[in-house]
Amino acid sequence: MKFHITTFGCQMNVHDSQWLARALESRGWEETGAEDAQVYILNTCSVRDKPEQKVYSELGRVAAHLRRDENVFAAVGGCVAQQVGRGFFERFPFVKLVFGSDGIAGAPNALERIAAGREERAALLDFVTLYEEREQPDQPVAADESRQAFVNIMQGCDNFCAYCIVPYTRGRQKSRTPEAILDECRLLVEGGVREITLLGQNVNSFGLDKGGVGVSFAELLRSVAAIPGLDRLRFTTSHPKDIAGEVIRAFGELPNLCPSLHLPMQAGSDKVLKAMRRKYDMERYLSIVDGLRTARPDISLTTDLIVGFPGETEEDFQQTLDMVERVGFESSFSFKYSDRPGVAAVNMEPKVPAEEASERLLRLQTLQNNITRECLKNLVGARTDAFMEGLSRMQDGDAVSWKGRDPAGRIVNVSMSETAGLTGMMVPVRIVEAKKHSLVGERTGEPW
Ligand code: 5AD
Ligand code: SF4
Repeated sequence: MKFHITTFGCQMNVHDSQWLARALESRGWEETGAEDAQVYILNTCSVRDKPEQKVYSELGRVAAHLRRDENVFAAVGGCVAQQVGRGFFERFPFVKLVFGSDGIAGAPNALERIAAGREERAALLDFVTLYEEREQPDQPVAADESRQAFVNIMQGCDNFCAYCIVPYTRGRQKSRTPEAILDECRLLVEGGVREITLLGQNVNSFGLDKGGVGVSFAELLRSVAAIPGLDRLRFTTSHPKDIAGEVIRAFGELPNLCPSLHLPMQAGSDKVLKAMRRKYDMERYLSIVDGLRTARPDISLTTDLIVGFPGETEEDFQQTLDMVERVGFESSFSFKYSDRPGVAAVNMEPKVPAEEASERLLRLQTLQNNITRECLKNLVGARTDAFMEGLSRMQDGDAVSWKGRDPAGRIVNVSMSETAGLTGMMVPVRIVEAKKHSLVGERTGEPW
């Protein structure tokens, strides 16, 4: 069977799709381009914007392929699948499987049964209370030459921030066991992986649910960092209310823990944070930032911000701008608040008019671009290692341009004579130029 996966949304979805692809390959299936596929899998996200529309228009495209081959069918997974559920079957009869994030473990077998005609349709939408281990595919999930891998440490979220749909679509928090996580990490590193990103909706509360066995996130981090051969360790996402002092200090103690942290602030006004049910205030946020910078002065901080949350005044928004400047985030993702079905903020008033929210977003993004530019400019002259991800899309001149990342995750483009063979290698570089969102490096030593 030939399949094609389209993924929307966060790194968890990207990772889920990678796992699903390897699990299907273990069954003899083959991943192909959209044109040749017999099975179309859409892994969806409903955090923002108009996610359902996006999925429906993708399914419209699948319908066109159906005309060519009537055995073609589709599966819809992820957050939109969890919300719309069996509704997809009525609207798009060629959708034969829907699965939520807890149902994905059963998706490969369900797809196999449907493809073999042993089952007409299936809906894997139940939430589980404990983390369900997934089968290990024949090929590790990060068998590619990038030598980077994601590892799930938990699923779901218990926080119910007032704007967020995640607790409804991904269910309650379920931690995976530390043994299973460590086994997977060791296996990956033995297989050549040099960089691991631990994934969870709120990694700082790892182990604090029914699946916990008394191992904290800080302890888990230490154990993973100690795996011989692991050059870079990252984790995402963090919630400021849960980040422990031990985790903050780990940035100064674990040499392979990368000097970057994504710490969603969402807003700079205590009043708005309270309405968002974030359970921290700016004083606490700033003390975390101080702690991080004490532990690791070169740490790069990034964040998520929402503008136009119900009740946000111009003064509240001004506080967000002030905080963005004060913390000096190297980059941020900023979004206009949008109602998600069933979340608490839907009933909060007054709503901020759309034009006002757009105008605030623009002001915020202009400020951020200036700060980003300053941060990158300050790195010119620094020496570091760039972990090569492949050829860069932009090529200019005779030398070949490669794209890599420094330990903080910044893109570093390096011109080199090699046309192949450097992906997955560390190249020592000196930063010679700062672009708008990336750096340019000059090779200073032998790749390792
Ligand atoms: N409206 C706008 N942004 C949202 N996010 C989550 N829910 C919403 C919403 N309803 C943003 C938050 C979160 C990121 C993943 O998406 O900033 O951190
Ligand atoms: Fe959503 Fe808040 Fe959970 Fe993050 S911590 S997934 S924003 S509910």
